[in-house]
Amino acid sequence: MNNVEGKVALISGSARGLGAQTAKTFVAGGGKVVIADLLDEVGLATVEEIKVAGGEAIYVHLDVTVEADWQRAVQSAVDEFGGLDVLVNNAGIFFTKSTAKMTLEDWRLMTSVNLDGVFLGTKSALSALKESAAKSEAGSAIVNVSSVAGITGAKGASAYCMSKGGVRLYTKACALEFASSKIRVNSVHPGLVDTTMGQLVIDSARGPENAARVRKAMESAHPIGRIGVPSDIANGIVYLASDDAAFMTGSELVIDGGSTAQ
Ligand SMILES: NC(=O)c1ccc[n+]([C@@H]2O[C@H](COP(=O)([O-])OP(=O)(O)OC[C@H]3O[C@@H](n4cnc5c(N)ncnc54)[C@H](O)[C@@H]3O)[C@@H](O)[C@H]2O)c1
Repeated sequence: MNNVEGKVALISGSARGLGAQTAKTFVAGGGKVVIADLLDEVGLATVEEIKVAGGEAIYVHLDVTVEADWQRAVQSAVDEFGGLDVLVNNAGIFFTKSTAKMTLEDWRLMTSVNLDGVFLGTKSALSALKESAAKSEAGSAIVNVSSVAGITGAKGASAYCMSKGGVRLYTKACALEFASSKIRVNSVHPGLVDTTMGQLVIDSARGPENAARVRKAMESAHPIGRIGVPSDIANGIVYLASDDAAFMTGSELVIDGGSTAQ
């Protein structure tokens, strides 16, 4: 299962959180990774951790809103590992703000990271992914990290929902556009997951002083009785990246402990 032996993945926002766990799971499946993030020190530490465990990884600085950074990141994968088989558009930001209080700058900040970042990553990786796809029966893959907030609304998080809903449908349109090039494109929709962003979601609900109470309430909002851990999501991302998902494209994989089933 989840065989990614010999494959090369570029994962945005992979210094920490879901991205870092995805990198570790990908390497455990036999792949090689390019860790790409704004947080250079944290990213280099993640690379070191992977190398100490016997895996292959490199770090590149990437601001997903900067096209030249993306081009450099893709080139690094090709130069270091000989090609690119998988792109994971994982980097993202979250904040809550009512529409009345939100400025156009706030809105554009959300759009620039969560949407422009996915577009620029896809565009920059396209030709390298096409080249790899031509050499592989199962083709190559893009996995876009959306959210349950890309499926249902969340009060106070309209800009985040806008961005993640956009990722969901951009994914489906790209799946159609790239199917003949054998590049599969799927989205992943996590529920609340215990990461830095997950804690921010909890703190944003009623302030950090109520975090323990909110965490309990959020745990019971997930029918499985807990919030997610990074490996819950990483396993799904690596599955979609692997040849086991060769017949999946334009799909959305919801990993949310049942929260959207209610
Ligand atoms: N944690 C959750 O509860 C949750 C739920 C649903 C979806 N998600 C999505 O999962 C993805 C990963 O989230 P996480 O929980 O690991 O968050 P996180 O904040 O722990 O990690 C996000 C990473 O993205 C990086 N990043 C942010 N802006 C960037 C930019 N402009 N360029 C490059 N890197 C940038 C950060 O430096 C960080 O390393 C995000 O897209 C998020 O929206 C998270």
